[in-house]
Amino acid sequence: MKNKLALSFVLIASVLSTQQLMAEGFGKGSLITRAGIAKVQPNDSSGEVTGIADSSVGVASDTQLGLTFSYMLSDNVAIGLLASTPFSHDIKASGSLAALGNIAEATHLPPTFTLQYHFKNLNNIKPYIGLGLNYTIFFDENTTDSLDSALGGDTDISLDDSLGLALETGIDIQLSEDWYLNVAAWYIDIDTTAELKTDDIVRTVNVDIDPWVGMVGVGYRF
Ligand code: NI
Repeated sequence: MKNKLALSFVLIASVLSTQQLMAEGFGKGSLITRAGIAKVQPNDSSGEVTGIADSSVGVASDTQLGLTFSYMLSDNVAIGLLASTPFSHDIKASGSLAALGNIAEATHLPPTFTLQYHFKNLNNIKPYIGLGLNYTIFFDENTTDSLDSALGGDTDISLDDSLGLALETGIDIQLSEDWYLNVAAWYIDIDTTAELKTDDIVRTVNVDIDPWVGMVGVGYRF
């Protein structure tokens, strides 16, 4: 994450130093589409797995293709959407279960809608902030052999979908009339309950994933 942030600041600095384009707002009715690299970095914590003292789980990061859209309802207000190819995360045991290592894997899609406010340009930089809702859908959840043997049998895992608040900030740097460099970040409240079913025994664990999402991409205004 730090390397990517450093790279984005270098890119921004070089764009600023090489040209000062005529700045203009996107304009009402504009659609800005952006594609780039998006990383989900969980800021996670969990409760105990039912009946297993001092146990906890953690969630690893993943990077995928991110797509974002802003549709300008006025010169300053837009509807924003964050979409992506599915993120796949390793779920690691920790606490008293740490020796098990990775215990599961889960894939999710985190579509996020925001209402954005686009500030006045600073030369060719267009900053914005957003507030909205995220709906995270988990699928393709699998457990590892280490969990199956620790729980004494084939274990099915399923994670509840999550609805939560999302905060967003970003900048679009104008490169030419309709092309932009975009750097954006989100903080998303994603909370889920994982259900582990081994034969007739059901165990649950509450997990707050609450990730930071960072994206660097290229945008085009239609
Ligand atoms: Ni949370």
